[in-house]
Parts: sequence; structure tokens; C-alpha cells
Amino acid sequence: MGYLSSRYARYNRGMAGDLFAEMKRYVGFTEADARTLADLRSRISPYLPEVVDRFYTALLADPTARAVLEADPNRLPRLRVYLREWLEMLFCGVYDTAYYEQRCRIGRTHVRVDLPQHYMFTAMNIIRIKLSERLRAFQLPNACEALNALHKLLDLELAIMNETYREDYVDRIQSIERLEFEQRISESEHLATIGQLAASLAHEIKNPLAGISGAIQVLGAELNDGHPHKEIIAEALRQIDRLDAAVRDLLLYARPKQPSLRREDVSQIVAHALILLRQEPAFLPVRVRCEGLTEQHWALVDETQIKQVITNLMINAAHACEDGGSVECRISKHGDKVRLVIEDDGVGMQPHVLARAFEPFYTTKARGTGLGLAICRRIVETHQGTIEVESEPGMGTRVTIELPGAA
Ligand code: HEM
Repeated sequence: MGYLSSRYARYNRGMAGDLFAEMKRYVGFTEADARTLADLRSRISPYLPEVVDRFYTALLADPTARAVLEADPNRLPRLRVYLREWLEMLFCGVYDTAYYEQRCRIGRTHVRVDLPQHYMFTAMNIIRIKLSERLRAFQLPNACEALNALHKLLDLELAIMNETYREDYVDRIQSIERLEFEQRISESEHLATIGQLAASLAHEIKNPLAGISGAIQVLGAELNDGHPHKEIIAEALRQIDRLDAAVRDLLLYARPKQPSLRREDVSQIVAHALILLRQEPAFLPVRVRCEGLTEQHWALVDETQIKQVITNLMINAAHACEDGGSVECRISKHGDKVRLVIEDDGVGMQPHVLARAFEPFYTTKARGTGLGLAICRRIVETHQGTIEVESEPGMGTRVTIELPGAA
């Protein structure tokens, strides 16, 4: 349940009595007020039709309210009767849960006919002014108490009307949240199925691929250096490597390994990853700068998995610098966390691509499984860490990882 709906969940309809008692306490409405209003019932009753007249004359002067009231020719006569009953009930003397429920029902009618909430304030003011005038005209010995009781009750009526609008608002938020939740569940079920399928396919592909690679290497070894087929063999092996990497990614994503955590110096892991990355063709035109590697940054991590995260992110960064650019890798301490930032000044991502960056199988690259970042996130999260991506088209991308540090 989201913030808004959980914050207000305590106000569910089953707790109507508690809520009404709380409202009464809040405006200071007492049993004495209830008695004062009940004592006025017979005196005020003959004047209520005039309040009804004043009310609808004022409403009909407003074009929007008029359109609502005249939407159906029987509506206004019906409403005059309803409002008269509503006004009579103000002086009934018993303001219990049944009263509250009855008033809520009226409020819900307003919500159902899509009446804007702000109308309630002006409309209640018309009633307030008219009834106050009448009470003053009575010149009661307890005029002050009577007026106070009336104002408190009309404030309660407003609070009830607002409550029905709030209920409706919360209902709508909850149904949006429910929809989003159901969508997420069906997406994750869908992904789990794809993952299983991908894993079994990857398994089927892996062994024959190793066989083909071995066979081609044997054939290649029999050719002299200048042989015209030598380059074909090399290209075939490169393609097999790509396939192998894709299969490895699929298996990694579909069957994640639990990290085997040890206290490691993350600076060292980054340094080792960088040594291997220097061999990568994508890094040839790219300047790589590092910060913080000379200091030790201890964390409880699975070295192989974190090295893989760094490698994936660095390769992504290098690919983003299409025509040569720079990639920066900064490592630092942040409170009790180790923070690793990998930043490039490459092509960046459009907002809609950024929004889906961690989504498995989502890729904008012609060659790619769309699993790189999904795997990174899964690994970082199983290390109880966080990963965030910021990007601006044409400016570059920054990935920030935080891992819990170890003393
Ligand atoms: C303090 C202000 C108001 C009070 C006390 C009040 C009272 C009522 C009552 C008692 C009902 C009958 C509800 C039911 O039994 O389900 C009702 C319904 C309705 N009210 Fe109000 N109302 C107020 C303000 C307004 C305003 C400002 C408008 C329009 C501009 C409005 C339009 C309606 C409409 C369209 C219905 C539904 C009528 C039908 O088609 O049956 N009300 N109202």
C-alpha cells in the first residue's frame, strides 16, 4: 500500500464512529450543544423552507451549479425536499454514528455526481448565514450558545462532506496502486517464464557451441598464416565468442548465484577489472581516468560478481563514447558505504530509454541481450547495495553504486 492510502487507512468506513467522535472533539461539540439545537427544533422548523429558497436561488445564479441542478427537470424539486429534510435533521438532537453515516451517504451522492468539492464551502455558507440570521432574530436568552452550537455542527457537516471526497480520493489512489501492483506481478511472472525458457535454451546452446568453437580452432590451426581462410576462421571464432557471452548473460540472469561474501578491497577489484578491460577493442579510442584507487575501500563482496558489474558498466561506458571520449571511474567512502561512480561523456540516453534501463531484455543496441544492467542491479542488490543511473542525451551517463562497507 502506498504512502497516501496507508496514511489514511485508519479512517476506513468501519471506523466511522471513532472518526465522528474525533471530529466532534476537534470542533468541541458537546452534549450541551446537542440539547441546545434540539430545543430549537420546533421554533426553527417553519423557517426552513425560506432557507431552502435562499439556498437554491444562490446556487442557480452560478452557471455551472445551475447546469448541474437543471440537468434533469425533476432534480430541483427533489433536491428542495431533500434539503428541507437535511435541515430538519440538523436540529434532531442525536448526533451519533447513524447520523454520521446518513450524512456521509449524502456526501457520497455529491461525489458520485462529480460535484466539485469547493462548492460545499460556499453552499454551506449560504445555510450558515441564513440560519444564523434566524437565530439572532429569535433574540434567545442563550443566543450565544445557540449560535456556537450551530456553527460547530455546520463545521462538522463540512468536515463530513470533505471526508466523503477524501474517501473517494483514497479509493481512487488505492485502485491505481492495485492496478500498478497487478501489472508489476504479471510483468514479473512474465519475466520469470521468459527467464526459465531462456535458461533452458541457453543450456542447450552452450555445449554444442563449445564443440563448434573447438572444431573451428582445430581447423584454423591447420592453416598457414597467409591462408585466405584464416580471417574467416577468426571471424567465426569472434561470432562464437559473442554468442557465448550472450548465453552466459542469459544463464546468469535466469539462474543468479548467491554471492559468496568476503572482506575485499573494492579498489583492488576495480584495478584488476581495468587491467583486463585494456585489452577490449571498445577501449582503444577512449581515455580512462581513475580516482581513489590508491586508497583501500573495504566491503563484504563476492569478488567475481562485483568485477563483473564493473566490467559491464565500463564496457557500456566505452560503447557510449562512440568516437572517442572519456570514462571516469571514481571510488570513495560515503559514511559506512563504499561508493563507486562510473561516468562517461558519451551519447547519453533519452528519458524513455533511461526509464527502462534496468529492465531485462530491453536494449537499444543492435548487438546485446539487454541483460547487462539488469544483471548489475541484481548483483548489487543481493549485496544489499544500491545502483542508480543518471543520463542526459548528448552529455553522458553516470552510474553510481553504493555497497555496504566493511571495517
Ligand atoms: C451544504 C451544501 C449542500 C447540502 C446540505 C446538500 C444536500 C443534499 C442532499 C440531502 C442530497 C440528497 C442525497 C441523497 O439522499 O442521496 C443532495 C443531492 C444532490 N445535491 Fe446537494 N447539497 C449541498 C450542496 C450542493 C451543491 C452546491 C450542489 C450543486 C451545485 C448540489 C447538487 C446536488 C445534486 C446534483 C444531488 C443529486 C440529486 C439527485 O439527482 O438525486 N448539492 N444534496
